[in-house]
Amino acid sequence: MAILKIAKMGHPVLRQPAQLVRDPKAPEIQRLIGDMLETLSDIGGIGLAAPQVHVPLRVVIFEVPAQRAGGDAQPMTCLINPVIEVISPTSTSEDWEGCLSVPGLVGRVLRPNHIRYAALDQHGLPISREAKGYHARVVLHECDHLDGFLYPMRMTDISKLIFRDEMRFWSTPPSTVDIDTKIDE
Ligand code: NI
Repeated sequence: MAILKIAKMGHPVLRQPAQLVRDPKAPEIQRLIGDMLETLSDIGGIGLAAPQVHVPLRVVIFEVPAQRAGGDAQPMTCLINPVIEVISPTSTSEDWEGCLSVPGLVGRVLRPNHIRYAALDQHGLPISREAKGYHARVVLHECDHLDGFLYPMRMTDISKLIFRDEMRFWSTPPSTVDIDTKIDE
């Protein structure tokens, strides 16, 4: 396995739609997932999408730690070819997000609160879950990477795109920050 380099905002791989994975069990896909897990573990983040490691394929990994889950903790999960359905389009919430591909910054992003997603897991088996709150936000953020979207492109008020080390001026505690970037950067 290997620790992979992270593509940053401006790299074309982050803007292009990622391709469907044809064979989740193929050795190169298994190696990619292993490398992504090792890379995320090394960084200490919450989630990672394949385009962020310069691979334009529809693969994401994430976990939802208990201390931030609001009762909806999830173990480290791999989603291949994920499909998302928004369950209640009128139920949304705004919260801070950060991204390994946008280092140093955090921004307020409005997201649907309640989704259902389906995918194949790292073994090629079907996986389907409902997700609310932070769990839903993490999945939406990571899967956005597969369609060429970074969280600043989802923001409606760019004045709320700030440097992480200026968060002390904002009332929302930094513990609620972070999607795929670590807390103590
Ligand atoms: Ni991200």
